[in-house]
Amino acid sequence: MKLRIISLITIALAAASAVSAKDDARYTRAELEKKTKTEFIDGLLSRMTIEEKIGQFNLPSYGNVKPDPKKSPLADRIRRGEVGGIFNINGVDDVIKLQEVAVKESRIGIPIIIGADVCSGYETRFTMPLAMACSFKPANLEAAARISAEEASTGGICWTYSPMVDVSRDARWGRSREGAGEDPLLGADMARAWVRGYQGDNLADPTTIMACVKHYALYGAAESGRDYNPVDMSRQAAMNGFMEPYRAAVEAGVGSLMTSFNEFEGIPATGHSWLLRDVLRSRWGFDGFVVSDYTAIQEMVNHGVGNADEVALQAFKCGVDMDMIADYYHDSLLKLYNANKITFEEIDSACRRMLSAKYDLGLFHNPYQYCDAERGKKENRTAEKLSVARRIATESYVLMKNEDGVLPLKNNKRIAIIGPLADVRADMPAMWRDGSATTYRGLADALRDQLDGVEVAYARGCNLADDEKMEYNFTDNKNNVRGNEAELLRVAIDVASGADVIIAAIGESASMSGEGASRATLELPDTQRRLIEALHATGKPVVMLLFTGRPLALQREEPLVDAILTVWEGGSKAADAIADLLTGRVNPSAKLAMTFPLVTGQCPIYYNHKRTGRPMAPEAWYTRYVSNYIDVPNEPLYPFGYGLSYTTYDYSNLRLSSAEMTAGSTITVSVDVKNTGNVDGEEIVQLYIHDRIRSITPPVKELKAYKRVALKAGETATVRFDLDVEMLKFYNADLDFVAEPGEFDVMVGPNSRDTQSIMFTLK
Ligand code: NOJ
Repeated sequence: MKLRIISLITIALAAASAVSAKDDARYTRAELEKKTKTEFIDGLLSRMTIEEKIGQFNLPSYGNVKPDPKKSPLADRIRRGEVGGIFNINGVDDVIKLQEVAVKESRIGIPIIIGADVCSGYETRFTMPLAMACSFKPANLEAAARISAEEASTGGICWTYSPMVDVSRDARWGRSREGAGEDPLLGADMARAWVRGYQGDNLADPTTIMACVKHYALYGAAESGRDYNPVDMSRQAAMNGFMEPYRAAVEAGVGSLMTSFNEFEGIPATGHSWLLRDVLRSRWGFDGFVVSDYTAIQEMVNHGVGNADEVALQAFKCGVDMDMIADYYHDSLLKLYNANKITFEEIDSACRRMLSAKYDLGLFHNPYQYCDAERGKKENRTAEKLSVARRIATESYVLMKNEDGVLPLKNNKRIAIIGPLADVRADMPAMWRDGSATTYRGLADALRDQLDGVEVAYARGCNLADDEKMEYNFTDNKNNVRGNEAELLRVAIDVASGADVIIAAIGESASMSGEGASRATLELPDTQRRLIEALHATGKPVVMLLFTGRPLALQREEPLVDAILTVWEGGSKAADAIADLLTGRVNPSAKLAMTFPLVTGQCPIYYNHKRTGRPMAPEAWYTRYVSNYIDVPNEPLYPFGYGLSYTTYDYSNLRLSSAEMTAGSTITVSVDVKNTGNVDGEEIVQLYIHDRIRSITPPVKELKAYKRVALKAGETATVRFDLDVEMLKFYNADLDFVAEPGEFDVMVGPNSRDTQSIMFTLK
């Protein structure tokens, strides 16, 4: 009976709103000016047909609209009111034309939202997000996002599919480079900064764009590190280890959120009501709109949870408002509505969220405000913006080894840059929008600029990989990609033998990581290993310059080189920033946001792991019947938080303002940090907490705070952190966020391994 009444009301409401498809229902300027946002959206909703509302949920991609965008099939769909937004559109002229169709030729005249993956820059390209996270400086992410927004908003784009905040503990997963690494606190800080950078404090400003936090949820925990694979873990493990960055983005006011491809607990994330309703909407109060990932609704059929109508229903009921690519909402929602499976109110709420986003972006007031090619010409990729990219890069590349101070380069007459990545400019821009890679500077030129009178020679040294297919697939130079191994090596050794120092530019090409680029082996390909062995055999100092989108397993090569500088995928100013660090113009300061394993088999590997009932004794290398391997140590090659500089720091005098904390009190942790070397530097001081006993097993340590401190050579500073009860909280077995009284260790140090510790009690 109750059901019948509801559906009668539904039908009545629908009838009340039914408008003839012939009416011109477009909004007027007066309406926009006179009405509040809610009144305006109510007015629009009351004039929209159910079909038009469902049209707002549809997100097709741009595709081919040539020769005349207005005559393309996409334009026809927009004209018919079947499209809420489009993405990855190329060129502001086409945005203008398609927007004109939406605003002037569709019955309801609602502008479309234009999205794109602007994830590490638009025209000014920043180093990849994982690298930026290694700066432990949220302000860098904010600055990069701000510049990205200023530039993308000249090209018609008002909505970016960024930040990606998926916690990633497994470098086999190729998308590790897109996020902030393995730590939830660092990830959350970065997420907030990213969102602030894109959105500013006024979304309607034509230089800000809407962020879309992704991929919700737990996408980085894919089984075996293989992209799109299932994820399974307890809810408390999810809440404690993975969810905080998404929550932080919501707290920072992110306008939209993208679901993930993976399943969780046997349910696709795109139709997971605990994730999407209970946590996201109820617990966190998210009121922005949710978009599926690319065909993720359709892929629920492959996951095996229903047919097209059923999965569309499941996703929609979970509050997924927009369907990227699949057209499943387009094909199913009207049917589902007519069959009383979804209600008028549900359609209205989702549509309201879409219209609200467009309103906030100022699209109703000026649908073309993000189409400012003139501003783009003047203000994109300026020297000033590029210098920000260069500074951020120098703060993001990690020095992992430096024996006998081989770096910075000094007193050299001849430098040899050798390796398959030494002159591959296409590998520098980093992911998603690759700009015009050929205009990127080469490393040799950048070094010559900074090292007056030094001869810089180059040789390729080896192929990227042994496997021909791999080489072909993962190099941008498709012509004549393979060289003769023996010949390449012969030339390299020839070049190296005349040099004082060798820079071995090796690692991964940019296309070897990213979406759909999981790796089962993180070791260097044999071609590159042989090159390193041969360079080592020359007896000259060898600096490994590691280009990579993720941590690699360098157990075999690490002993063969004198220094390792990880330069990731470096961005527009990669070559200059690398030269800045190699020459010592800038002192390295970055620390790893993700653990470098010894060997692939240790993955997933992360610093904030649990202890096991049979932990390893600290000095043991192997013991039967305890939790260890018979063939490799448990420890990684380089732990989370690790990174060197051209100076050294000494930590001493760790102390607490009190050995007791109460719910309302704050304890100050102080430590003296001295720059004990000869050059000025910036040190990232890290504070970890270990909860000794609690109701669910604690991790061995968890990052709770960090500070970047600038110290002149010889200078000492006292670094202080305030600790309160909020920082001791975790999700217990009932998923309540609590702190439990007891003893806690505070650990402070230059990385997650080399810490000093002191204890306090929470009363
Ligand atoms: C699929 C990716 O998973 C997602 O990150 C991206 O934003 C969309 N494609 C759109 O390009």
